[in-house]
Amino acid sequence: MAKSNDNGFHSITWEDDHLRIIDQTFLPSREIYTNLNTTGQVWEAIKNMKVRGAPAIGIAAAYGLYLGARDIRESSYESFYLEIERLKVYLESSRPTAVNLQWALNRILTTIQAHKEKEVSELKDIILQTAQTIHDEDERLCKTIGEIGLEIVPEEAQILTHCNTGALAASKFGTAFSVIWHAHRENKVNSIWVDETRPLLQGARLTAWELKKEKIPFKLITDNTAGFLMQQELVDLVIVGADRIAANGDTANKIGTYTLAVLAKAHDIPFYVAAPYSTIDLSIENGDTIPIEERDTAEVTKIGSKEIAPAKIEVYNPAFDVTPHHLITGFITDNGLIRPDYKKSLGNFADREVGLEK
Ligand code: MRU
Repeated sequence: MAKSNDNGFHSITWEDDHLRIIDQTFLPSREIYTNLNTTGQVWEAIKNMKVRGAPAIGIAAAYGLYLGARDIRESSYESFYLEIERLKVYLESSRPTAVNLQWALNRILTTIQAHKEKEVSELKDIILQTAQTIHDEDERLCKTIGEIGLEIVPEEAQILTHCNTGALAASKFGTAFSVIWHAHRENKVNSIWVDETRPLLQGARLTAWELKKEKIPFKLITDNTAGFLMQQELVDLVIVGADRIAANGDTANKIGTYTLAVLAKAHDIPFYVAAPYSTIDLSIENGDTIPIEERDTAEVTKIGSKEIAPAKIEVYNPAFDVTPHHLITGFITDNGLIRPDYKKSLGNFADREVGLEK
């Protein structure tokens, strides 16, 4: 029987004159929604991961730009555009790794440039419309990713995933999660292995919460259990999301993804990355120059509010790592299944880099 994706929550909603998000820092214990009325509030929500996941922060930043733009008093195109550029730089400073954030803001700026002749009030409307287009489009892209991904999921699949790539991390469906959801709907899923994903536990807190809501069978594991499972032949494939994919296929994703890819290679297990075109950054030749966010040391020394390490010690807390392209079996994208040679196959995305609003 077909199961619905009526998961009963919306990670991001535009409501008349403000943005409403589910505050992911409270999950899974409390479902709390927060209204964001200013660019500063959106910046803070992204920085502190109230809203997180590559597509979701792109969508939030797009609305965040509008929230600032609507208060701009300038009346000439030139001075309005300068203010918009300032807001863009500010929003981009919230989190550096997921290219979706820059991509969404660039898309808005490119759209404004194409409408230089309009009044500032009309440009403000265009910014909001573009944010809404990015939001709606993401839902379609994620659905397509899930449908396309069905091809690589075997019957009775045991799939291992990392971090959170579901509807919380995007508009709906998610990326890797969308493949899992569609495969489950086709009765192809035996069980999902969910990495807890230290330090912020997006797997334990968020993916487990979403899978439970969707009634998809899963087991939560600590991150260091993956190798043991693979050795026992309990993993058929690994599917993860992405924060930035370079032109050669090198992929930044949540810290621990590279370790999984190496393990998958050692055990001859397919390793797939699911992502929309907005995550592909053809301006970056390879993974070496992807900016890797370093986060607060307290994320490592504490679990919730509990200290788990001695005081005043040195900590290194990169939020992402880069998986080299040669460890990736394929990319599940809204534009089909992408196989090596990635320089060539990802190059086909060049004409989709910035969608221009009419
Ligand atoms: O630090 P986060 O939680 O924002 O990191 C999220 C991830 O790494 C996801 O895997 C990625 O953004 C893809 S989300 C569809």
